[in-house]
Amino acid sequence: MLLLLLLPTVAGYGLSITDEQYYKLPPLFSLDDYQPCLASAGGQYCLGSFHLTAEGDNHVYDVLLELTNDLKNFNHTLLHRGYCLTTRCLDIEGSLPQRFTTCVDRTLSQEYGLRATLDRLDYCKTGDKPRTRPIDNVDWIFAAVAIAVLVLNGIGTLYDTFRNQDEKRR
Ligand SMILES: *[C@@H]1O[C@H](CO)[C@@H](O)[C@H](O)[C@H]1NC(C)=O
Repeated sequence: MLLLLLLPTVAGYGLSITDEQYYKLPPLFSLDDYQPCLASAGGQYCLGSFHLTAEGDNHVYDVLLELTNDLKNFNHTLLHRGYCLTTRCLDIEGSLPQRFTTCVDRTLSQEYGLRATLDRLDYCKTGDKPRTRPIDNVDWIFAAVAIAVLVLNGIGTLYDTFRNQDEKRR
């Protein structure tokens, strides 16, 4: 019984890594809230997967590899990230995918000394901006048809009101 308690708590991993150590590793998934991000005009959100590498000796990376080589586990060198770029890494310039990639790489580099390269970009989305589309021909045609219906309706009503009252009774 005592022996069981002394065993590493993440027993399923088949290697000596404790819960405490496990939660110090970069999480497999990290997703910012999607709706609040895109609710604001011009909100920018990207989702993608990243391949992790280490420059030189890196204990965290060794543990990730050890975990990953056990086929029972997820591949911990492949991380999934969804970032709201309107609230993160505002100083990074470039296209949306470029900013996303640089932001993820920089975050992992600062926190774990790991490097991240984009494995797959699922999407980058920008929140709907307020409508700025110019008025086009289809808009004019719709307006013309709507006005024509109103005018014809008015003429019909006037005709019905003012036509000869005697004829109306027949
Ligand atoms: C984990 O994913 C990487 C790609 O990010 C791949 O190169 C590697 O072979 C995978 N490892 C395993 C054990 O599937």
